[in-house]
Amino acid sequence: MTKRKLSFIGLLIVVSLLGVMLTGCSSTATTDSKEIKIGGNFELTGGVANFGKQTMQGIQLAFKEANAAGGVLGKKLVLVTADNKSEPSEATNAITKLITQDKVVMVLGPIASSNVLATLQVGQDNKVPVLTATGTNSKITVDNGKVKPYAFRACFIDPFQGSVMANFATKTLKAKTAVIYIDSSSDYSKGLAESFEAQFVKNGGVIVAKEAFLQKDQDFKATLTKIKGMNADTIFIPAYYEEVGKISKQAREIGITTPLIGTDGFDDPKVVDIAGAEALNNTFFSNHYSAQDTDPRIQKFVAAYKAEYGQEPSALAALGYDSALMAIDAIKRANSADPVKLRDALEQTKNLQVVTGVITLDGDHNPIKSAVVIEMKDGKQVFKEKINP
Ligand code: PHE
Repeated sequence: MTKRKLSFIGLLIVVSLLGVMLTGCSSTATTDSKEIKIGGNFELTGGVANFGKQTMQGIQLAFKEANAAGGVLGKKLVLVTADNKSEPSEATNAITKLITQDKVVMVLGPIASSNVLATLQVGQDNKVPVLTATGTNSKITVDNGKVKPYAFRACFIDPFQGSVMANFATKTLKAKTAVIYIDSSSDYSKGLAESFEAQFVKNGGVIVAKEAFLQKDQDFKATLTKIKGMNADTIFIPAYYEEVGKISKQAREIGITTPLIGTDGFDDPKVVDIAGAEALNNTFFSNHYSAQDTDPRIQKFVAAYKAEYGQEPSALAALGYDSALMAIDAIKRANSADPVKLRDALEQTKNLQVVTGVITLDGDHNPIKSAVVIEMKDGKQVFKEKINP
């Protein structure tokens, strides 16, 4: 072999070794670098943009605190966000980008159940856990009796939330009849209608009618006029703040004075901007926590959040913060940021003290947590009662 040939072979060896080193580096970049990249699939624009922003801020606060305390496993937590525009198809695109391009080890979000449901197959196919702080629809973690191995949440589920409001209607409002008015474009709304009805009927109540609207509808008066004629004791509206705001305003305008009741989707200051404080009097909804709860753990969080963002944290902010604590706890127990190990650790979440309660995941990847009922009084949220599961 000539000298030239030898050095050519040498060069080939060096180049291929370099290649191995480089690809080796890139495939382990997420675990070997000084950072742990976590995806945030959020509604940052579109119909429920405020929900996305609040949740993201809660997560960022928890990450900031953890990083200030030296990081997790000695590494800095980095939240890589993607905007799902409050649309299921965009939520699928967002998770795909976060996993395949950004190489995140876990995805937090989305917020709204329909958007969460649109991301789970991608998480599962890529073996990357998806942890929603807020998605309450029961099908997120279990479908047809089968637990989805890569799907987790930090909140209670709608069968509980729906029955809390049915019991509130029966026991506190003494309602014997109710109308259910749902957003038929939302899995969240449809699931809640079912669980509310089941419990209300069990309590001896009668559902006199079920009506529906679609997200982005503007004029609800024709249906509300029909509902007014039914003279029911209460109207159950499991929907999000934009539509809830418009419905409440128009209901009062046409003279509906009965209590309007709803669920966590009510929880945004924008509901007051849209409906006006007056229209929201005699309105009640279930939620995950109240910033007025005197529990010291809650007050500590409220103070830290206010100091950071200059506003009171909604339940979404608290749940976002809690989902970040769940992620951090899983990384520590896994002693790794490997997505599959994180999945295994998340499944074992036990007695984790968070702002909205204590999280122990059941066999269906759901925490068992209490709910609160909030009353709107002159545009302010008033903490009414706490209901344990
Ligand atoms: N539970 C809602 C859903 O599943 C999201 C939400 C959570 C809204 C908390 C407000 C507060 O779509």
